[in-house]
Amino acid sequence: MQCTQLISRRPFVFGGISLFLIWLFFGVDHQAIRDRVQKWNISSGAMSVKEADVFDFPPVDSQAMRDMCSSVEWNSSLIFTCDNNHGGIGHIRNSILNCVRYAIGAGGSLVLPSIAPRGHDELDDAPHVERRHGMPRQGIEYMFDKNHFADSLRKSCPELVLIRHMEPVETPRRRGLLPESLFPDIPITGLKQPEEWPIRLKAWIESYMSKENQKEPIIIDLEQSFLHYPINSDGHDVAHTFGNILKFRPDTRRLATRTLMKLSNWYDLPMNLSEPIINPSFFGAHLETASPFTQSKRHSDVKYSHYEAQSTAYLKQAFSAKTQIMYIASGDLGEAHKIGLEATEYNIAVTHKEDLLKEEDADELERLNWDQRALVDYLVLTKSQEFAGVGHSSFSWNIALKRHEEIDPISGTLEEHTETWSDGLSTLYGVRKSYVQSSGCMWA
Ligand SMILES: *[C@@H]1O[C@H](CO)[C@@H](O)[C@H](O)[C@H]1NC(C)=O
Ligand SMILES: *[C@@H]1O[C@H](CO)[C@@H](O)[C@H](O)[C@H]1NC(C)=O
Ligand SMILES: *[C@@H]1O[C@H](CO)[C@@H](O)[C@H](O)[C@H]1NC(C)=O
Repeated sequence: MQCTQLISRRPFVFGGISLFLIWLFFGVDHQAIRDRVQKWNISSGAMSVKEADVFDFPPVDSQAMRDMCSSVEWNSSLIFTCDNNHGGIGHIRNSILNCVRYAIGAGGSLVLPSIAPRGHDELDDAPHVERRHGMPRQGIEYMFDKNHFADSLRKSCPELVLIRHMEPVETPRRRGLLPESLFPDIPITGLKQPEEWPIRLKAWIESYMSKENQKEPIIIDLEQSFLHYPINSDGHDVAHTFGNILKFRPDTRRLATRTLMKLSNWYDLPMNLSEPIINPSFFGAHLETASPFTQSKRHSDVKYSHYEAQSTAYLKQAFSAKTQIMYIASGDLGEAHKIGLEATEYNIAVTHKEDLLKEEDADELERLNWDQRALVDYLVLTKSQEFAGVGHSSFSWNIALKRHEEIDPISGTLEEHTETWSDGLSTLYGVRKSYVQSSGCMWA
């Protein structure tokens, strides 16, 4: 199965395709193992454990974004849709953010983005997973907090018209477009001149959009765009706030909060859950070996795509960091247990969310779809004392870049000989120079 088909059924005509082939996602299964009655005091004291959400934050209120938006020439006859968002959270997050950025750049309106889900049913017949014809789209709330998205844009980009819903309309003035396709020769670091987007778009509209019904708005269906928009081209402040217009859906935030509470209780680890990175706490690792969407197409030449290399690297790192607890995010509980056994040799206890969440929490987790459960791991891992992941995974990169916000402007360094990237908070194994260059096109 071709990974590209998860991303888009259309062939890509721009560079970096090899990256797409190996930028994977990850997922989880569920199984409960142990439980313990727990009590918890939330700092405010006012919240029940059930409602506690240490991953909540207010809508983005950014002057840098307002400045960016007020410098744009807005055009009420341009409407963008953003419905081609597939893959795991790393892909989806970045592609929605790119849609918003492109809509702002062109001064158009944006229809609330939607998401193409990958469900458990699809996993059951994984080899055919790419056959998604007729697959319904889910709203943005499938993964994200819809009101937060709308409120953040209203506050930080008041000119942008966000259209809550648009009936499917067929008009001659409607076409699909992959924004990057308007730029020739895109280097691995992303578009050289992203500011040319509105001019290039205008030329494209003039050449390809029907001249009929001039009074009707132009509708452009944005294709999934991934690692081509260089986030620093809008300046430091925008690069560091823009991603926050997407906040994960509330149930995943609360489940992640409870996972951390359970971890703290079970292992008698006092933690201040409000800290962005909790130190000391636990070692977080993304065991990325079991994606059922890509099994038949494993890249055997990529050393760290295999369990052995990942587990050994993670255990060694956790051991030298002197952490005794390892939280594992894995698509394969069998492998999570396997690393648990191997970890005893290092005197490290391994746990995961299915291990920690019990009863109602376990039920709630189980009700979530495969990709939604990954959001819980994503959040938990953002707070670990150290994080380790793999260079070919957009999930790992997304977490590392999010954590990196805490230490900016110190940049990560790549040890090319060992293919190890680290910024002091996160370590990614199996990183090639080109991945680091592309990571400048992933919104944190
Ligand atoms: C929670 O806080 C209250 C009041 O501060 C205290 O009496 C109680 O012992 C605390 N409970 C736990 C489990 O820490
Ligand atoms: C909006 O964009 C379209 C397509 O580029 C263009 O024809 C039209 O003149 C623009 N309208 C304004 C008010 O700029
Ligand atoms: C927990 O961390 C937050 C954020 O760093 C801080 O504001 C708060 O004072 C800390 N609480 C305690 C009890 O240390």
